[in-house]
Parts: sequence; C-alpha cells; structure tokens
Amino acid sequence: MPTQPTFDPVQILQERFAAAIGLAFPEVAEADRDPVITPSKMAKLADFQSNGAMALGKKLGKNPREVAAAIVAKVDLADIAEPLNEGSIAGPGFINIKLRGDALAALVTSMDRPGLGVPTPEVKETAVVDLCGVNLAKQMHIGHLRAVIIGDAIARLFERLGHNAVRQNHVGDWGLPIAMVTAKLKSLADAGKIDLAALSLDSMEKLYKAAQLECAAEERGLAMARKYRMGPKVIAELESQIEGAKEAMAHAKQTLVKLQAHDPAVFAIWQRISDVTMKACLDTCAALHANVKPEHSAGESSYALELGQAVDDLVKRGIAEESAGALIVRVEGLEEPCLIRKSDGGYLYATTDVAAIKRRVQKLGGTRVIYCVDARQSLHFKQVFGAAHRAGYDINLTTGKPARMDHAGFGMVLGDDGRPFKTRSGENVKLMDVVTEALKRAAAVVNERSAELPDAERARVAEAVGVAALKYADLSNDRVKDYVFSFDRMLAFEGNTGPYLLYALVRTRSVQRKAVAERGLTTDSWEHAAITVAEPAEKALALTLLRYPGTLASAADALEPHRICNYLYDLAGMYSTFYDQCHVLKAPDDATMLSRLRLCSLTERVLADGLETLGLPTLERM
Ligand code: ARG
Repeated sequence: MPTQPTFDPVQILQERFAAAIGLAFPEVAEADRDPVITPSKMAKLADFQSNGAMALGKKLGKNPREVAAAIVAKVDLADIAEPLNEGSIAGPGFINIKLRGDALAALVTSMDRPGLGVPTPEVKETAVVDLCGVNLAKQMHIGHLRAVIIGDAIARLFERLGHNAVRQNHVGDWGLPIAMVTAKLKSLADAGKIDLAALSLDSMEKLYKAAQLECAAEERGLAMARKYRMGPKVIAELESQIEGAKEAMAHAKQTLVKLQAHDPAVFAIWQRISDVTMKACLDTCAALHANVKPEHSAGESSYALELGQAVDDLVKRGIAEESAGALIVRVEGLEEPCLIRKSDGGYLYATTDVAAIKRRVQKLGGTRVIYCVDARQSLHFKQVFGAAHRAGYDINLTTGKPARMDHAGFGMVLGDDGRPFKTRSGENVKLMDVVTEALKRAAAVVNERSAELPDAERARVAEAVGVAALKYADLSNDRVKDYVFSFDRMLAFEGNTGPYLLYALVRTRSVQRKAVAERGLTTDSWEHAAITVAEPAEKALALTLLRYPGTLASAADALEPHRICNYLYDLAGMYSTFYDQCHVLKAPDDATMLSRLRLCSLTERVLADGLETLGLPTLERM
C-alpha cells in the first residue's frame, strides 16, 4: 500500500515485479512474491537484477528460467526501463534490468525538492533517546564519545524523518559511590582543607577515587596475611585499615541517608559536584557540536521518589518476588533475574532504569525508547526491558501498545595495540583531551592546505575539519563493533573520512560559485533546469542520489548511523567520477551545462543534509 511517491528505483522495481509475480502466479501468497531486486553484478549490461525466480521455481517445482520468462511477460516497466525480452534472462534465471535515462531524470527531478524525497511519516513516533550518561565527579572519557555522538546522530535522524526526539542524559548522580565522594568533600571542606568553590573536576575525580579506596576494606588482604603469618606489624596495619574503612563506609551511608532527605549542608556539596561535572560535560558536548543541553539532563537522582513507588507497585502486583532477602523480577528467557532491591533495602542501577521506562513511555510519550549505551551493558537492558514489560510500564498510554525498546549498544574504542584506548600511563583518555588534540592537528593540516584563506575563516575551517574528522571516524564504524582510534587516519583527506566528505561538499559548492562568477549565471537558472541523464557517470550519480531517502529510513530502522556514512562516501565518489568524466562549465551546450549544474546542486544538498543529520559541521569553502 504505497501511499507516498517513492523515488527509489529499487522500491519501484520491487513493487512492479511483485505485481508481475502476482499476475503470473496468483497461487503464490503475497508474502512470498519477493522479486529480490539487487544492484546488477554486471554494471555494463544492467543497473539492477531480479533474483526472485530461483526461490519461486523451487517453491512451484518449476524451472526458474521458465518462471523468469513468465515474470518478464507480465511485468510493466514501460515508463522506467528498457524493454525486457528473452535476452534479459541470464544464468539460472536472473532478470537483468536497465533503467532508462529519461526515467531516471524524471525521478531525480521529482526528488529535487526541499525534503529531498524523504517522505513525511505515516505514523509520527516519539523516540526517547538515552545518550551521554556521564557520572558525577568523573571526567568524561573516550567511551562517552560514542554515547554522545551516536546518540545525538540517532536523535537527529528521527527528527530529520519527521518524528519527535526526546533526549535523556541519564546522569549517574545518585547512590552510595556519590555519597562516598560527597562525604569526603564535606569533611575536607569542614576542616578547611579544600576550597569547594574553586575545586576543579580533576581534583574531584582524585578525591572520588581516594574516597572509594578508603571505603574498601582490605578483608582479603588480612585473611592472606593471617594465613601466611605475615607478622604482627602487617596484621595490625591491615586491622586498622579495615577499622578505618568500616568507619568511612558507615559515614558514607549516613551521608547517603542525609542526601536522600535533602539535608541542606550535604545537599549543597552534592549540588556543587553536580554543577562542576555538568558544566564540563555540556562544554564537551558543545565542543563536539552535539545537541546535549541542560534540559536533557534526567539524572538518576530525579527518580529518587519514583523508585519506592515502582517497587511497591511491583510487589503489590506479585511481579517482584523475594529471593534471599532481596527483591527480584524474573524475566522470560533470561537465567538471571532483574534485581530491584538489595537485601539491605538499597535500590540499584536497574531499579532506576525500570522507573525510567515508565516515565519515558507514560509521561514523555515515547513510542520508541533507544539506549545509546556501551554494548557490554546488554544483559542489564534485557533484564530491565523484561521487568518493565511484565509490569506494563512500557505501554504507551496514547496508542495502548508497548513502546519499541532498543539497546543501540556500541563497541569499544581501541588503541593501536588493539587494547582499550588508554594514555601511556594506563589511565582513561579524557574526552576533552581528545577533542583538543583533534582540533590542534586539524589546524596544522588546514594551515598548510588552505594557507590562502583569511585567518578567521581558516580557524573556522580547522574547527569544522577537526570536529568532522573525530565524529565521522566514530560514526562511520559499524556501531556494535570495536574500532581502532587513529588521529592520522581520521584527518586524511582521502578515504572514508570526515575531511574527505567536507571537501566533496565544498567542491559541489565551488563549481556553482564559478558558474556565477565566470558565466554570469544566477542559481535559479539551473535550479529548475531540465535534467538529462545520458552519460554513464550521470546515470551512476542519479542512481546514487535516489538512494538517499531509503538510506535514512534503513539507518533509522537499524539505529545505524554508519549506513548514512557509507552512503555519503559512495555519493562523494560518484560525484567525483561524474565531475571527472562530464564537463560541467565546459559542457557541449548550455542545456547540458545547466542540467549538470542542477545535479551538482542536488548532490550538494544531499551531502549537506546527510552530514547535518549525522551532526557534522559543514563548510562553504576550505
Ligand atoms: N552512567 C551509566 C554508566 O556510566 C550510563 C547510563 C546509561 N543509561 C541508562 N539509562 N542506564 O555506565
């Protein structure tokens, strides 16, 4: 039931051939009429091929070449392809299809409108996108690069397709670890040993680690020391460490209770930690041109009052059950249940996520909830999705249907050695340091390549190149896979990189500027020009342009921004071939020049639109 015009030849062929199969073999159920349209394996002979006859032949017990002939006899392609005949059937039963240039020109012309052929959605979704997810009193590290920019790209993609996107930064700002550092900072501040107002995030992180160490009792060390009779001095030291740790832990627990009760003195310290962390986080997101703002923060602390309610509800309805003093929710198909309350009465990471689903679906109206979080948390999300589903917290109150829940997990960022990317001393790499380094290196490259640009513009170009390089290198990798980080590779102007795509975009713009400057043309002289698709390179470019709407749709369905990257790289390559093989400003006649300028302009707008959808900056010149 195609309700909106499609510009995608694959989809058109898919529909026409499915209809032909229905006419030739009415006994075949609609679901089995897939003609399997793919790009042609022999680009010289054909543009596409249909491979469906083989499977149909098997199903019908017929020779696939005969099946293919029956389809060819019924298919109506008069307006779009060269006529099919006996010779169109190849090998065991492939059908070769060659599109007509005038048909491609007509499709490209109808795609050339403000929305670039992207249909308005039949059902408007509200996609709640969980992204960023920083933790208080800690610097953002390289892993957050992915949680920020893949999450932002997915949110932008939904917006681009005409849906609503609601970003949620699920900040780790609650619970015992945060209470430990809050307690530590409070005692130091009370003793006049630190100036809280001037404390940097770096210092907070150090104190956070110190606080955790202080609270960790060396029970095992003591057991070993006793077993190996390590002498009274060692044992006494360990005993006193354990005593101290118990005290520190007790103090942290008291602090947690005070924090939960919003005790003003304790809460003020927590607020300060939160302010400093979030300022650094949002600055980093801004440096990355990622749309993560204060209004997107929905930290774990914001669920504090909702946890008890949710747990009571789950107990009352018999969904949660007791197990060794703790509360669990069993999830079908999972061996490990979702733990929602510890035996000491404390709530967990999962409890908050269960409550968060209820808010995201039933308050924020999510019809899809998407988690852009490290793939290693996959079990956690299965448990949480399962528990929330049993409770019906995932039922959207408007549609009455469960929201679609997805963990868009991502792989790790690796160093040259194939191990998690770390500094030389083995520390986590700070995200802001990576951004700064990318910008510095981009400036060096751009200063050399674009020496003729005025200083201010050169600085702008360098910033865009650095940000595009870093983000594109991440986004272009298969989301779930690990990838090896390399400044050199991401900043190269050749290959599937951010700088290469910016450069391709700039080239599409410069030829149009030249047409104005050297030919005295105005942009509207080609914006409505008749498009002709005659040369092979024009045809290849047209076919690639027409794939854009379908690419966005499939990237959104799979939650895979890298599909857009691969597409843009293809488009840039096709444009480059077109530009080499088809003269634009020196075209044989004016009509051809204007047609080609219009193809340049459409390529420009698709490239820019794709880059913007990914959250990359774009440029006029470089
Ligand atoms: N703060 C978490 C972490 O560092 C990430 C939060 C992800 N989002 C969520 N809803 N659990 O692992």
